[in-house]
Amino acid sequence: MSSARARPLVVGTGIAGLWAAWRLASEGHDVLLVTKATLQDSNTAWAQGGIAVALDAADSPAQHAADTIAASDGLADPIAVEVLTREGPDRVRELLELGAVFDRDADGELRFGLEAAHSRARILHAEGDRTGAMLVAALSKVVLGNPRIEVRQHCRVRRLLRRGDRVVGAILLNDAGEPEAVAAPAVILATGGCGQLFEITTNPPVATADGWALAHSAGAVLSHLEFLQFHPTALHVPGVNPAPLLTEALRGAGAWLVDAKGERFVFDADPRGEMAPRDIVARAVAHRAYRGGAFLDARHLPNVEQAFPGVAALVAAHGLSLAHDLLPVAPAMHYAMGGIRTDLAGGSTVAGLWAVGECANTGVHGANRLASNSLLEGLVFADRAGRAVGELLAGSPKVPSFAPAPTDWDAGTDAGPIATAFRARMRSFLTREVGLVRTEPGLAEAELAIADLRRRVPSGAWHTADQLRIAAEIARAARGRRESRGGHRRADFPNPKPRITA
Ligand code: FUM
Repeated sequence: MSSARARPLVVGTGIAGLWAAWRLASEGHDVLLVTKATLQDSNTAWAQGGIAVALDAADSPAQHAADTIAASDGLADPIAVEVLTREGPDRVRELLELGAVFDRDADGELRFGLEAAHSRARILHAEGDRTGAMLVAALSKVVLGNPRIEVRQHCRVRRLLRRGDRVVGAILLNDAGEPEAVAAPAVILATGGCGQLFEITTNPPVATADGWALAHSAGAVLSHLEFLQFHPTALHVPGVNPAPLLTEALRGAGAWLVDAKGERFVFDADPRGEMAPRDIVARAVAHRAYRGGAFLDARHLPNVEQAFPGVAALVAAHGLSLAHDLLPVAPAMHYAMGGIRTDLAGGSTVAGLWAVGECANTGVHGANRLASNSLLEGLVFADRAGRAVGELLAGSPKVPSFAPAPTDWDAGTDAGPIATAFRARMRSFLTREVGLVRTEPGLAEAELAIADLRRRVPSGAWHTADQLRIAAEIARAARGRRESRGGHRRADFPNPKPRITA
């Protein structure tokens, strides 16, 4: 294979992938940007919550950093947090220059909303609860209009190609499943989260931990996979998955969580009530949902359907009204704090491989993510990764030419009832035993069950095998952390260890 025209490959088109591709192109480099579905399919596109950023004159990156570190339950990397909060304002200014349109007040000033565990209002939204859709629309226009960026939709990555100690390219599969080997001096994974490994999630169908599996197969270190965030207020409609998200901004605007008697219950768990950190609210909601029902009550908010048009439409699709009904809620898998371990420029532990956005573990979230920090993380670290790869390319790196080995080409298939049944069992074990509250016997059972599924997975069902690989890593990480911290709650180890272990 000739590598004369090798371009960096960016995988995934949420905010992090779009931004990394744009940054590379703006530095004068050609880029191949691929997504396994369309530009509209990503966690970013579905994001209702906004971007947390210290842009208000009365705010400061230091205050934002302090809130981020407090939310992380002791595990955030203070240097990564400092990078996030200090560089965030400049990235958001660039976003505005590129065409992003955030909500403003009557004087035309940016309007900042409040979400849980923020000490002040600093969340930018678009059209109330359509922030992600606006961002994807604005950035898609930018990348599609840039002649240096080739965008391929419906293009999957089957595996990364490693020669010696570095990643040198990837096998891509087009919509028809036909493989193509591409050489790349750098691969940037921006593949998002793992919600679809669980039974109920707010994540779109594409969120199947693909980047984690690709990186892990290529020998990269994954870290902090046990730290998963369950969103407290997904609309509870049995059998509906993904579960419609009722954004936390509703609680920020004053919506209540009530039980079947109409009584607010989160204060029993935390004096901050509905604005307590997500893991606390999620457990309180799960407890009530199991004992008679938990409901979000936004009926008293003025003009609530105008302020939250996206949520109003989502609940209307299930015959409910944001303005007139109590909305049944239950927690749902929402966000992964851990992922592919990276340095401050998004570099993984394997040369040639970068990771940005939700699939990365940059260290900014620690054990628990502060609401609305993820879009900012995607921007800031994708920018750093784009610049780092740009510098690498400016040095005219020698990308080894290679001939794909026969084993690189087994495209396989994931269709078939056995693979489908295996994934359903995996989701059931992860949800029951590696969910909101975990125990040693439950985690051991999940590990054994997943190991058994891995042994028996039909040959050729590579995407199921990849998901099982990651399910095993999540269960192993959760079993290994014998303490409760952030999003990881062990009934048998209810307290955090006094000495924090990374
Ligand atoms: O509730 C939400 O809108 C979620 C925001 C986030 O996950 O950052």
